Amino acid sequence: MVKQIRSWAFDEPVSSPFAVPEGFLGRMAGRIMLWLNDPRELVAHIGEQRSVLEVGCGPGGLLRHLQAERVCGVDPSPDMLRLAARRNRGAELRRGTAADTGYADQEFDVVVSVNNVAMWPDLDAGVREMCRVTRPGGRVLIAWHSATGRSPIARGNALPDDKLARIVQALGDPVSRHELANLTLFDKRLLP
Ligand SMILES: C[S@@+](CC[C@H](N)C(=O)[O-])C[C@H]1O[C@@H](n2cnc3c(N)ncnc32)[C@H](O)[C@@H]1O
Repeated sequence: MVKQIRSWAFDEPVSSPFAVPEGFLGRMAGRIMLWLNDPRELVAHIGEQRSVLEVGCGPGGLLRHLQAERVCGVDPSPDMLRLAARRNRGAELRRGTAADTGYADQEFDVVVSVNNVAMWPDLDAGVREMCRVTRPGGRVLIAWHSATGRSPIARGNALPDDKLARIVQALGDPVSRHELANLTLFDKRLLP
């Protein structure tokens, strides 16, 4: 039985092993994420950093490619953290959510979320927390499946324009938008 979550992005509760990856189905979903997601374009966009936190890191497919001295990941799912730990021996992994990462103010150069913003219960709380743990002049990145994605999975999960506009509003000006192969990416630079 897959748990339901209520999200700011959908009128109905969401019930999917990709949103709440727990147990056998969740671990299968985690392996599919590792197999399907190619993080290289996003890694290039992030660039070399001193410290990066991924919020909702899932099985850790992005973490292992990041070019940073300190790589950290939080996820609410213990099953995903276990999968991520196997592939990311040097990363700091802990249980947490977008709205409650457990890190101190201004700890990271970059804080990034990939394919989980639409699963958060409270968009503004998640964005506030991502900004809180990012240093002045650092960047907050939010990526979600793109409507123009190469993969039908990305296109099938894309959010409508009004929901994308809500993400931009929550991040606050200035935000740049980038269309990657399968992701729409919002990039917010905090004031120095
Ligand atoms: C589709 S997976 C994406 C995982 C990974 N970022 C990737 O791209 O492979 C969604 C992840 O978001 C996590 N998640 C669900 N609710 C969350 C929340 N409120 N805050 C942060 N992560 C959350 C899930 O546990 C799951 O690991």
